[in-house]
Amino acid sequence: MAKFCTSISIILCMLSLSSPATATTTYNVLSFGAKPNGLKDSTQAFLNAWSAACSSSDSTVIVVPKGRYLLSSMSFKGDCKSLHITFQIDGTLVAPADYRILGQFENWFSFEGVSRVSIVGGALDAKGPALWACKASGKGCPSGATTLSFTDSSDIRIDGLMSLNSQMFHIVINRCQNVHIQGVKIIANGNSPNTDGIHVQLSRNVAIVNTSIRTGDDCVSIGPGTKNLWIERIVCGPGHGISIGSLAKDLEEDGVQNVTVTKAIFIGTQNGLRIKSWARPSKGFVQGVQFIDAIMQNVQNPIIIDQNYCPHNINCPGQTSGLKISDVIYKNIRGTSATSVAIKLDCSATNPCSGIRLEDVKLTYKKQEAQSSCVNAKGKAFGIVQPNNCL
Ligand SMILES: *[C@@H]1O[C@H](CO)[C@@H](O)[C@H](O)[C@H]1NC(C)=O
Ligand SMILES: *[C@@H]1O[C@H](CO)[C@@H](O)[C@H](O)[C@H]1NC(C)=O
Repeated sequence: MAKFCTSISIILCMLSLSSPATATTTYNVLSFGAKPNGLKDSTQAFLNAWSAACSSSDSTVIVVPKGRYLLSSMSFKGDCKSLHITFQIDGTLVAPADYRILGQFENWFSFEGVSRVSIVGGALDAKGPALWACKASGKGCPSGATTLSFTDSSDIRIDGLMSLNSQMFHIVINRCQNVHIQGVKIIANGNSPNTDGIHVQLSRNVAIVNTSIRTGDDCVSIGPGTKNLWIERIVCGPGHGISIGSLAKDLEEDGVQNVTVTKAIFIGTQNGLRIKSWARPSKGFVQGVQFIDAIMQNVQNPIIIDQNYCPHNINCPGQTSGLKISDVIYKNIRGTSATSVAIKLDCSATNPCSGIRLEDVKLTYKKQEAQSSCVNAKGKAFGIVQPNNCL
């Protein structure tokens, strides 16, 4: 409904136009002493801005103007009084040059026990390459920090963020509900170790849309206890693809339920759509997965279930995976495989995969027909499936 203010009653009229709910209060990190020069440590200024926003009963916006902000590890903790906190980041947040400073922490930016928090914009440069080089040379290196982590939180939005060169994972969603991630860009070298793009676990109602991920490990990794995950329009590569798992590492493990991956594009990745579990006893399961409308460009394992994961043959030789995989749909998956086996369903001998559905799959290898391999996999094919359906 449109309203027009006349000059006579402009103030009253404008008051009536503004939302009756509550005011929005803005906190600019510069007024808390942050310096946009990339040199002076602004950690305390950011924490103070958070405290002020968190204890306000209004909706609040923490503004980070253009510039570079040197920041060490910090946690933003709830409960907050405010209805909503938006981090509006127009600048770049940079980690200390010495990787040991961040590397001793689990996270660079950690949100814990918060609700109704949005991060809009922002570039986070974790300066990972020095730590990756340390790891490559094998001397005693810290394991490194996740760039951005949300734990025990709900109603979270991450919109238009860029994460560059994380030390370890870029974004982790752990024990959260109602998380919407969109328009995010993740960039790290294809050889960088353990730089997963987005890791989700023990969380429900998470959506990841319109996001591009170039990294050294999984573009998206999906851990135990993930329910109702929606992934749409992801471009992945380099990287290890979208992976449900590794699962079944532990005997007591929450299942993964109702995961949809639609309109994903994989470019030169190690895997496309993967489900991976340890060959170990487990009460875990994967139930209800829809992989729809994916494009593979030169992907080593476009469609893969691997239930025999046992790196270095430690703690699982001779065992089978306890993970039960059921109702997994692959529909309209097209493109090229970089290896001759384009479909590999290697399920557990004691817990065969069931309800696998392959529908309109066309994967080629060097312009020839590729191969498929099924072990302990039960299901059906519909429409045209190339390579020939082994179910
Ligand atoms: C997708 O995200 C990019 C930023 O990465 C943005 O420019 C574009 O408008 C978004 N598209 C849609 C359809 O949301
Ligand atoms: C599955 O998850 C989607 C979101 O990804 C949700 O819309 C849908 O309701 C869920 N289905 C069930 C049966 O819970």
